[in-house]
Amino acid sequence: MPATVTPLRVAIVGFGWMGRVHAQAYARVRHHYPEGPAFPELVAIADDVPGRAEAAAAQFGAATAVTDWRALIADPDIDAVSVTAPNFLHREIGTAVLEAGKHLWIEKPVGLSAADAQAVADAAVAHGRQTAVGFNYRNAPAVQAARELIASGGIGSVTHARFRFFSDYAAHPDGALTWRYQRARGGNGVLGDLGSHAADLAWYLLGDVASLVADSAIFVPERPEPTGATSGHQLASGGSRGPVENEDYVSAQLRLLSGARCVLEACRVSVGEQNSYGFEVHGTRGAVRWDYRRMGELECARGDRFQDEPSATVHVGPGSGDYAAFQPGAANPMGYDDLKVIEAQRFVRSIVTGVPEGATIADAVRSARTLDAMTASIEKGAWVTV
Ligand SMILES: NC(=O)c1ccc[n+]([C@@H]2O[C@H](COP(=O)([O-])OP(=O)(O)OC[C@H]3O[C@@H](n4cnc5c(N)ncnc54)[C@H](O)[C@@H]3O)[C@@H](O)[C@H]2O)c1
Repeated sequence: MPATVTPLRVAIVGFGWMGRVHAQAYARVRHHYPEGPAFPELVAIADDVPGRAEAAAAQFGAATAVTDWRALIADPDIDAVSVTAPNFLHREIGTAVLEAGKHLWIEKPVGLSAADAQAVADAAVAHGRQTAVGFNYRNAPAVQAARELIASGGIGSVTHARFRFFSDYAAHPDGALTWRYQRARGGNGVLGDLGSHAADLAWYLLGDVASLVADSAIFVPERPEPTGATSGHQLASGGSRGPVENEDYVSAQLRLLSGARCVLEACRVSVGEQNSYGFEVHGTRGAVRWDYRRMGELECARGDRFQDEPSATVHVGPGSGDYAAFQPGAANPMGYDDLKVIEAQRFVRSIVTGVPEGATIADAVRSARTLDAMTASIEKGAWVTV
């Protein structure tokens, strides 16, 4: 281990899909960033489903497994905590982590509303701790390359853009009625889930939103109640069915402060669409497009023809974002888990250097304000100022 590497004891609250992804990311930091400045050691896991934390602790070599997250936060030897529990717990657990003097890596959307995200942000400022938020798509080296291309004027002035986040994870009518579909535990539906990512990406690439108008719909109004503990997106059948309380679909038209126009669309019940996430940004001299499922590629049109300008595929490589931490040459595809390793490393580095890096709680507040504005627009049936 290099002399500069600082020990960093981390814990995870909520060991479903994202808890596992965070555990794997922490473990891989030392593989991809051998220079440090710290290698996280997972020491404790909390999950309220009996046995779940124990099984995870045995697999990942954590010494402590608890069902009550408060016991974990009370441990003075823990430096940082990942909060990967359902949305309704983000505010309570996130602020408690910060008040206990620990750094916080928390999943998006950070609570049920912008007020929840702001409360966590306030606690981070009050206690001087670092934060990271799970807006992983902006960590893709190709997305960073697109950002640099746009910022450098490589496609001219941005005129209009489209962000599309379509998925089928909730398309099956027997998809279990988990916390995701309930207002009290999930908050927004696809707006908070995929829409929060889209809002963050739109800001990351194009800057602030001035005003917007939005629409939403529920297309699968009832789902079967799960009969046991759930994790991720699973099916349930038999049993009684309950109401879906939040939106399956959202679309919004955004006017950006730059004057550019933007369309944002997200849906969780799109049959035939598996993680179909991406954007296209058009400018006065070109365009750039990205599809998450071809993570390392950018489709770029750049030149001086204006008309009949061809598009070319650019495979990003070392020199774009953190690509070099994974592969030595372009066009070796990276995956979703790699984006979380990058996120973990930025979090770790921010703790050691004291300088925020990557998406932080401020980005969660901004994204949540955009989502709250969409909700207000849907309620009013009118344009709203953000
Ligand atoms: N960044 C991304 O791409 C991404 C992807 C999926 C989910 N998420 C976010 O991650 C969070 C978790 O989502 P998920 O898909 O992992 O959900 P999940 O349902 O798979 O896992 C949630 C876990 O939290 C546990 N839990 C519930 N109440 C708890 C409590 N009081 N104490 C401790 N543990 C508790 C559950 O038992 C479960 O194991 C959500 O906020 C979601 O929006 C982010």
